[in-house]
Amino acid sequence: MNTSGDNLTILLIGGGGREHAILHAIARSPHVKKIYVAPGNAGMRDMAEIVPIGVMEFDKLIDFSKSHDVDMAVCSQDDPLCAGIVDAFEAAGIRIFGTRKNAAIIEGSKAFSKNLMKKYHIPTAAYEVFTDPESALSYLENAKMPIVLKADGLALGKGVLICKDLEEAKAGVRTIMEDRKFGDAGNELVIEEFMTGREVSALAFVDGDHYKLMTSSQDHKRAGDGDTGLNTGGMGTFSPSPFFTPEIEERCRKEIFTPTVEAMKKEGREFKGVLYFGLMLTEDGPKVVEYNTRFGDPETQVILPRMKTDIIDVMNACIDGTLDSQPLEFADNAAVCVVLASDGYPVKYEKGFPITGLDKFDNRNYFCFHAGTAIDKDGRIVTNGGRVLGVTALGHDLKEARNNAYTATSWVNFANKYMRHDIGKAIDDIK
Ligand code: AMP
Ligand code: GLY
Repeated sequence: MNTSGDNLTILLIGGGGREHAILHAIARSPHVKKIYVAPGNAGMRDMAEIVPIGVMEFDKLIDFSKSHDVDMAVCSQDDPLCAGIVDAFEAAGIRIFGTRKNAAIIEGSKAFSKNLMKKYHIPTAAYEVFTDPESALSYLENAKMPIVLKADGLALGKGVLICKDLEEAKAGVRTIMEDRKFGDAGNELVIEEFMTGREVSALAFVDGDHYKLMTSSQDHKRAGDGDTGLNTGGMGTFSPSPFFTPEIEERCRKEIFTPTVEAMKKEGREFKGVLYFGLMLTEDGPKVVEYNTRFGDPETQVILPRMKTDIIDVMNACIDGTLDSQPLEFADNAAVCVVLASDGYPVKYEKGFPITGLDKFDNRNYFCFHAGTAIDKDGRIVTNGGRVLGVTALGHDLKEARNNAYTATSWVNFANKYMRHDIGKAIDDIK
C-alpha cells in the first residue's frame, strides 16, 4: 500500500449516477494516479478502468484490491455498507472510505434510527414500531390521518407509504407485512406522524468525533410534476437550498447534527463516512425524516461539482479522525440536476434504446452523469434502467443553473425519455 499520499490507486465501488459524480471528484484530485470502478457503468470508461465485480462480492473486491495495489477503496452504497463491506476491507488490511456495519444500521433499520432519536431527544416525527400486523391495524383505528408507513429495512427508497385515510393505511400494512412487497424489510413496521414542510438534504463528512457539513441540497422524490405520482429514487435536485438559512443550520447543528454524531459514539457505533440527514423544516422546527449512511442520489450530482476541496484529502481525514483540521469548501455558485428517466419508471418501462447527444457536455459547467446505461453489442450507449442519466449544470445562481440544466436536457435524446419539468420550482418562491 502506498503511504506517501500521492500517486494513489483508488477502487470506487458502485455503478450509479452518484458514483459517476464521485468519480469526477476523485479524478480531479492531484493525489490520484489510477482509478478502478466496480462494477461501474457505461459513462465511466473515459475516467476509470471498469472492473466487472458486483458491489456485494466482497471477497472478489478484496482479492482485486490486493492484486492491483489499491491504496484506498471508496464505497457509498447502502447495501454493501449495511452488509459490512468496510469491516471486511479493514479486516483484510485495506484502507476504505465508508461506514462500518454497526453504524450503517442508522440507515439499515428505521426502527433503530427512530429509537436512537427518541433516546437522545433528536427531533423527528412521533412513531410506533410494530412486529405483527394485528397490533399495527388496531393502532391505526385511532391514529390521525394522513399517516406514514415505513418498512423497517432497506427498500431502495420505496418502502415508504404515505396514506391519506384509514382504508389506505390498512391496505398498506397488509402490503408491507403480509404480502411482503418489500421482502424482509417488512418484518418490522414503523408507523409515524405525517409531517409537512420543506425538505432539505444536509450531508456531512464524519470522522467518528467531528463532522463537516457539505453544502445543502433538495431532492424531488415523486415521479410527476407538482410532486404527484409515486415515490422514486429521486427525479432531480438543486443546491444550495435557499431555505436552509444560517439560522436553521445553526439550530440543526445544535439539535440534530451534533447530537446524532455524539449519540452514535455513545452507543459504541462510532460513525465514519458520509452521514445524510433528510430534514423536514416544519412549523415546530427542523425534524429528521431519515438518515442515510452515504452520499444521496441524486444529491451528490449537485453537491460534488460545487466542492472546491480535494475529496481525497477529506476522505483521508475521515478515516484518520483528523477532520477537525481539514478545511471543506464549496464554490459560491449553484447547481441543478434533472434526471432523465425511462417513461413508466418507477413501475414498468422499456430499455435498450440508443442515447444520442452525450458528447456535448464539457464536464466543467455541464455534466451528464450515467445511472442506468449500458453498451450494446454494436458498441452503442443504450438505456438500461429506470433512471438513465442525471443532467447537471452549474450557474452563478439557482435560476441560471436551472435554465442551463433544462437547456442541456434537450441535447440528449432516447426513445422513451421522461423527465420532470419543475425541478427547482421552489426557487420561484424566494422573493
Ligand atoms: P424516506 O425513505 O424515509 O426518506 O421517505 C421517503 C419520502 O417520504 C421522504 O423524502 C418524504 O418526502 C416522505 N416522508 C417520509 N416520512 C415522512 C413523514 N413522517 N411525513 C411526511 N413525509 C414523509
Ligand atoms: N435522494 C435520496 C437518497 O439518496 O436516499
